[in-house]
This record gives sequence, C-alpha cells and structure tokens, in this order.
Amino acid sequence: MHLWSVVPLCLLLIDTSVGQYEPTWESIDSRPIPEWFDQAKFGIFIHWGVFSVPSYGSEWFWWYWQGRKFPSYVKFMEKNFPPDFTYENFAPQFRAEFFDPKEWVDIFASSGAKYIVLTTKHHEGFTLWGSKNSWMWNAVDVGPRRDLVDDIATALRAHSDLRLGLYHSLFEWFNPLFKADADKSFKTSVFPTTKSLPELYEIINKFKPELLWSDGDGDAPASYWNSTGFLAWLYNESPVRDTVVTNDRWGYGTICNHGGYYTCSDRYNPGHLLKHKWENCMSMDKKSWGFRREAKLSDYLTIEELIATLVETVSCGGNLLLNVGPTHDGRIMPIFEERLRQMGQWLKVNGEAIYNSSAWRVQNDTVTPGVWYTKNQKNAIYAIFLSWPADGYIVLSDPVVSPSKTQVELLGYQSLSWESMKPTGLKVHLPQLDPSQIPCSWAWTLRLTGAE
Ligand SMILES: *[C@@H]1O[C@H](CO)[C@@H](O)[C@H](O)[C@H]1NC(C)=O
Ligand SMILES: *[C@@H]1O[C@H](CO)[C@@H](O)[C@H](O)[C@H]1NC(C)=O
Ligand SMILES: *[C@@H]1O[C@H](CO)[C@@H](O)[C@H](O)[C@H]1NC(C)=O
Repeated sequence: MHLWSVVPLCLLLIDTSVGQYEPTWESIDSRPIPEWFDQAKFGIFIHWGVFSVPSYGSEWFWWYWQGRKFPSYVKFMEKNFPPDFTYENFAPQFRAEFFDPKEWVDIFASSGAKYIVLTTKHHEGFTLWGSKNSWMWNAVDVGPRRDLVDDIATALRAHSDLRLGLYHSLFEWFNPLFKADADKSFKTSVFPTTKSLPELYEIINKFKPELLWSDGDGDAPASYWNSTGFLAWLYNESPVRDTVVTNDRWGYGTICNHGGYYTCSDRYNPGHLLKHKWENCMSMDKKSWGFRREAKLSDYLTIEELIATLVETVSCGGNLLLNVGPTHDGRIMPIFEERLRQMGQWLKVNGEAIYNSSAWRVQNDTVTPGVWYTKNQKNAIYAIFLSWPADGYIVLSDPVVSPSKTQVELLGYQSLSWESMKPTGLKVHLPQLDPSQIPCSWAWTLRLTGAE
C-alpha cells in the first residue's frame, strides 16, 4: 500500500519542479526540441532595420562602409550623401510609411510557412521594438515611431496560425561597451550584463516568441554571453518555457554543436541526413538578406530553385527558413510576394509530403537524379521529382515494392500504373497531361503506399 502511494507523489514533484535544466551545455543540450518545429518545415526570415534605408550592398552596410571600408560602399556614400553624413542619420528615414502588418501576415500565410523569424535587432544595434535598453536607437524613439515587433506579433496572432520567431544579435559592431570588453579579451562582461541579456529578457517577456534565433557572437565565448544561464531561465522559468525553440548561435564554437537546433552556417544544405534537427536559412536574393535596390532579376532565386531547396532540405531532416528583405518604407516587393505565393500554391498540392513528414531510409534516389524522398507517420513514401521526364516514365530505384500491395498516386491527380524493376524499385508511367490537368508546376510528388 505504502509503496503505491509514494510513486505518484514523486511524479508530481518532478513535474512541477522549477529548475530542471542546469546552466551547462550538457543539460541545455538534453532538452528535446518541441515537436511543432520539426512538423512546421518551412518558415520565413525577415531582415529589416536601418540598413533597409541605404538598401545597398547588404544588411552589413555599416560595417562594410566604416569598418572594412570597402571601396564600393565608400564611393556609394561619397557620391550620394554629404561628407558629414553618419549611419545614424539614416534612422530618421526609416519611416515605414506604407507598413501594413496585416498585409505582411497575409503574404506570409499564403506561402504555406508555419513560422516567421523577424530581426528585432541586427548587428547595427537598432531595436525594432521600443527597448528601454537601446536609448534613442530604437523604432519608437526614431524613424517609424512605432513598435514594429509589437505590430507584427499582434497581426500575426490575430490573423494566422503562424508562430512568432524573433532574431536577436548578441554583439553590435560599433557599441563601445562591447569594444571595451573585447579589448580586455572578454574578461569583463559589461556589455552582456547591461545590454544583450536585458534585451533578451525583454523580448521574451514582452513578445513571448516561440522561436528565438540568436546570432552574432562577435567571436566571444558563450561564457561571456552567459548563454547557458539565459537558456536555463528560458527553458525553466520563462513564459514560453514549454514551446520555445532556439538555435545554436550562442557563443564562439557553439554553432552546429550546442543549444537547440543546428544552423551550422548560412545557407546550410548538406544533401545528407543529419542526426540532429537543423535548419537551412537562406535568402531569396542570392547576395543579401537586407533589401538591395540594385538587385537584378537574376539575383533572385527562381521558384524552381526555391522548391528544390525546400525539398532537399526537408528530405534530409531540415527546415527551410527563407528570407525576404522589406523596404525602409515597409513594403514587401512584388518579386518576394510572388515567390512566396507560388510556394503556397505548390504546398497546397504537395504539402502532404512536406509538413509533419520525416526522413525516409534514403534521401535522394540512388540512380535517378533530382528525386527526393520523405515519409509520413503512416509509412507512405513520397518521391518528389524536380523535373518532368520527357520519356513518359520515371524510375524510382530504392523503394521495395509488392505487385499486390503497392499503389502509386501523383498528388493532385490520380493513381498511376507502374512495373517492378530488378533488383529493386519501380518504373512509374507518367500521364500525358494537357495544361488544364496538370496538378501543379515546378516539382511533382508520387505517393507510394504498400511499399518499403
Ligand atoms: C547568468 O544567468 C543566470 C540566469 O539568468 C543568472 O542567475 C546569473 O546571475 C547570470 N550570471 C552572470 C555572470 O550574469
Ligand atoms: C501535424 O501534426 C500536428 C500534431 O499531430 C497537427 O496538429 C497538425 O495539424 C499537422 N499538420 C499538418 C499540416 O498536417
Ligand atoms: C543525391 O544527392 C547528393 C547530395 O546532393 C548528390 O551528391 C548525389 O549526386 C545525388 N544522387 C543522384 C543520383 O543525383
């Protein structure tokens, strides 16, 4: 009798105890990633800030102009601005006069994305929310004169089931407090204790994001940033402790190694399965995350390239975080909007092979190029092919089929006939479709049931 009454009590104590995670990597790394993240597969990254005003070159504009002094940036400033013009002078021109958060949310939702990640503060240090830790260098005091993070968070929650993610840069290129710590080889930590950590607590408590995308360690170790201390609070005590997901950029050497899911590098797309959950963050403009006025049409990835990237990423166990750069006046340019809406059209037909899927035994077909596999929870296999074969059939060499059980269907169309191949695999006969019957463009999915 006694023994039995003790057991549930113990469970109760464990369940309600605060402080489950210790401020060590071993403990932080042991936390399972909340499952919504793996199921979501596709998110939208948004790089917006004062750098959207010059909108030239890259969101690293300030550093390339006055840190590295790259000739193209120096000349751009000499040619177009008075000699005494400073980077801070761009901020009043960040007006966001056409910004309509509801319209943004409509575009994001139409893409089929399940989460967004907004730059609340990039390496320039300007905060898109009215931070009390960023005096006169935030969107409420200067420029838009509104809390852009609050605007987006509110519209997102009111009009969609997208989850809110916030990007935050730990270091700031030109912050004298950071520089002073760096000059002392990070033996002092004035900047983290007075700036980056208070900001992190501020955005978590105020906006309750379900994803925190940390970046910019400035080559300082995680111990300088007190990253494990902050993450222990985030996982144990914060208002989002049960659902929040985070990444791996928490200090020098943590990337691809510690924290939540792995990002490893920008545009990471390994082409093989990883044991740990990961995300491929990449930009629609091949050369920049921030909006660039000088971008050419050929600088933007095509919808075929974007879908191929999504498919390869998901087949290998990753999520895709696709970046768009809004303009300083708050618009999402039609080229970005068109690509996002096209993604949504494709996902409407093929989403079954993407959302909630998991990696299959094989990631891409061993013989036929451009065929990527996923599977669902009921063991259907999806073979996504990136070009429509001219010869009327496609060979899938890896599935093990059974003449009596296996069925093949083209998503958005109907069942297709097939024949077995030796030693394994199948040859699927593709229909001759006229345009009105084509279920979608850009890439197509075969669903195999009764196969292994
Ligand atoms: C690090 O973070 C933890 C948790 O918030 C806190 O208790 C601790 O005081 C911090 N350490 C420093 C050196 O700031
Ligand atoms: C994925 O699975 C979750 C939990 O089982 C469910 O709530 C969600 O609707 C599924 N999403 C899709 C797109 O099927
Ligand atoms: C499968 O993908 C890998 C990684 O992208 C690539 O190296 C390989 O050539 C692909 N296989 C085929 C048959 O295309």
